[in-house]
Amino acid sequence: MCGIVGYIGQKEKTMNVLLNGLERLEYRGYDSTGIAYFHKNNVEILKKTGKLNQLKNVVNKNIQSEIGIGHTRWATHGKPSELNAHPHCCGKITAVHNGIIENMNSLKKKLQDEGISFISDTDTEVLVALLNYEYEHTNHMVTAMERTMSQIIGSYAVVFINEDDKDCLYVMKKDSPLLLGIGNQETYIASDMSAFCEFTNQYCILDDEEYGVVEKNHYHIYKDGKEIKKDIEKIEGLSCLSNKEAYDCYMHKEIYDIPKILKELFTFYEDEHSHLIPDYKKYHKIQIVACGSAYHAGMIGKCLFEQFANFPVEVEYASEYRYKTIFADENTLVIFVSQSGETADTIACAKKIKSMGVDSLAIVNVYNSTLSRLTNYVYYMKAGEERAVATTKGYSSQVAIFVILLREWMKQQKTWSKELEAMYQDGKEKLLKVITPCLKQYEHFSWISNLINQPSNFFIGRRSDYALSMEASLKLKEVSYLNSSAYAAGELKHGTISLIEEKTPVFAIATDEYTYSKTKSNLMEVKARGGYVILATLDTLDDSIDVDEKIIIPDVNPLFQSIMTILPFQLLSYHVAKKLKLDIDHPRNLAKSVTVE
Ligand code: AGP
Repeated sequence: MCGIVGYIGQKEKTMNVLLNGLERLEYRGYDSTGIAYFHKNNVEILKKTGKLNQLKNVVNKNIQSEIGIGHTRWATHGKPSELNAHPHCCGKITAVHNGIIENMNSLKKKLQDEGISFISDTDTEVLVALLNYEYEHTNHMVTAMERTMSQIIGSYAVVFINEDDKDCLYVMKKDSPLLLGIGNQETYIASDMSAFCEFTNQYCILDDEEYGVVEKNHYHIYKDGKEIKKDIEKIEGLSCLSNKEAYDCYMHKEIYDIPKILKELFTFYEDEHSHLIPDYKKYHKIQIVACGSAYHAGMIGKCLFEQFANFPVEVEYASEYRYKTIFADENTLVIFVSQSGETADTIACAKKIKSMGVDSLAIVNVYNSTLSRLTNYVYYMKAGEERAVATTKGYSSQVAIFVILLREWMKQQKTWSKELEAMYQDGKEKLLKVITPCLKQYEHFSWISNLINQPSNFFIGRRSDYALSMEASLKLKEVSYLNSSAYAAGELKHGTISLIEEKTPVFAIATDEYTYSKTKSNLMEVKARGGYVILATLDTLDDSIDVDEKIIIPDVNPLFQSIMTILPFQLLSYHVAKKLKLDIDHPRNLAKSVTVE
């Protein structure tokens, strides 16, 4: 999603703050960049398609300016082009925007009838033109913002310059994230705190329908026409200077972060006084709501609760859940899973559940993210800043938290037996012991080339192995662009097996003793049709089955197995993308946090 930065402060810092901020927001995914700043009494705008370096090459970093805004664009309306890149200007107003103006067409028509012309295809240009129109008709920027917000349908985080006011920036916020970084005689504005956390650890978060004026050493924030006080927060849990260290990309580094994260996570949550635990006994129903990999982690959570607690769990895509009839009440716990805590669909569901008075719990990585402020309970993933668009440590941390929730749940129901506690301690100890050596073992797949020139490949599994197949398939396709699908192993023969031809790669994940032989049969069906079969199974299940390749995974035990089993597929995806010389951390078309629906 789009990234926004703004700065007002020391004139020799502005260019560096803007470019540094945009660099730290690159992980969000983008196709063009731009900045605007006051210079010699004019607003100068520079915009470039492609990577941030294209912009850096044309920016004069020695320019002295006290005010500036910047943007990385992830196209929603209008193709990637310099014309559609932000900042956009109309009259006195120059702005950057993250979000979607849903009623842009009707607003554009109204403005065109007033004689205003447009040069881009974007909704943002319509927003800027409306701001300028209202300013020209009121000559008062705060009033103009109020009148603009009252006409917009959609989501927005906007930072803008008014040529008439050379000592402040303006902000408006609804649904898309926007934060102020509070410095000494300087103020930062950004979509997320990673853009300014190297300069200040104090910030405040704008909430929906808030807007205001930001100056060097103070700000005035309004809501519904009244000035409001904003609490200052301190940044915690965010390693601002997370860097790639010796790794060639963040994805590779973040996979190797997993062992340390898990160790700290289990230690933290085993201390029942370290966090607020729900009174689980009141809940007769659990619903898990998420997107993408977070949804896949929720699928593992479902398997854990149903297998060990004998308790049914529903898992829903947030993009579906938000528009369906929701069957939830005071005896329902809705668990939202989101690494960023800013995913638009997931947040919309959390707002709906909150409005219904239903209890909710967030499993989230970013401290103080929007989602973490919408739920009754928050379980932080404590995975540190995840910068690769393709989540790895985030997913693994989410699955680990579901093991923790299961243990807490069953303890309260008095069903967590001594045997289960022994299984938990033994499995955790084995997982933490073998995970690092195993990672190194999964750094070499001699058969990667056999995946690359195939029209598609498949991942199959049963129960939690099916949930793992979904995540393994997504990992591969999102970083390598190879077409990949995941199927319940028993489903392949109900249609999709028609796609299996000579050398079609089929990965079978079979770590579940109970269904191992069934999945083996499915593999033989594939083999009989010439498929290229890769079996991922436990060292304790491995037998002499005739397959093309094997990935052997240590048997840690069913409570923790999923956390172990996904690792070779996370590394496989990285190696395939590396072999294809792709931008592993910033895959095309993707964003780290999907803040639009
Ligand atoms: C995962 O690799 C993808 N980047 C994507 O599916 C992601 O999991 C999804 O967009 C949800 O993001 P969130 O966890 O920040 O809500």
